[in-house]
Amino acid sequence: MTPLTPLYNPPISLPKLHVRPNAELLVRRAHVRDVPRLYEIINYYAARGDMLPKTMDQLYSRVRSLNVAVADGEVVGCAGLHITWADLAEVVSVAVHPDVQGKGLGRHLVEPLIEEARELGIPTIFALTLQVGFFSHMGFREIPKIHLPHKIWQDCKTCFKQELCDEIAMIREVG
Ligand SMILES: CC(C)(COP(=O)(O)OP(=O)(O)OC[C@H]1O[C@@H](n2cnc3c(N)ncnc32)[C@H](O)[C@@H]1OP(=O)(O)O)[C@@H](O)C(=O)NCCC(=O)NCCS
Repeated sequence: MTPLTPLYNPPISLPKLHVRPNAELLVRRAHVRDVPRLYEIINYYAARGDMLPKTMDQLYSRVRSLNVAVADGEVVGCAGLHITWADLAEVVSVAVHPDVQGKGLGRHLVEPLIEEARELGIPTIFALTLQVGFFSHMGFREIPKIHLPHKIWQDCKTCFKQELCDEIAMIREVG
């Protein structure tokens, strides 16, 4: 059995990637073996205030809803879709390693989630984010947070930001 890892111990830096500039990119379902790497990437950004932290426990329990981007065998990014209700799903944990940002990886991670929502018959997806520019490019638009249903605030109960929440709600119709 793997020794227990502390629940939240954010990395302050990420190991350098060994990915060739022209390496082929693959987006696939996350495996449980990817979780330590996802923990590193997500919590690296969380420590900088860019996104919410995740514990190993949360990542293992949500691994089935996460996709990863892989280049030269290394996990370089992630994103997931959580179904909220019959008509709504949330795009979560979108993160791309800093060494490979700005190359279309974020788009490659989010587009399959839009397609997945469409296949599931979910008409609207949303994100709670500080990355308004990125999500605008992905076809999302800002809405007042209060327009989202109560159910989505479940996670807020355990979030350290509470009423100081600075995340912006953005939605996109799936069509
Ligand atoms: C946000 C993030 C995932 C974007 O990933 P990326 O691989 O750099 O993004 P892409 O290269 O796929 O960009 C896709 C589009 O968004 C635009 N874009 C990306 N980041 C942007 C930004 N900060 N501001 C404005 N536009 C942005 C790109 O110009 C591109 O536009 P185009 O395809 O219409 O030309 C990445 O910056 C990241 O991991 N940030 C830290 C973690 C984070 O904040 N995640 C969001 C949590 S909700």
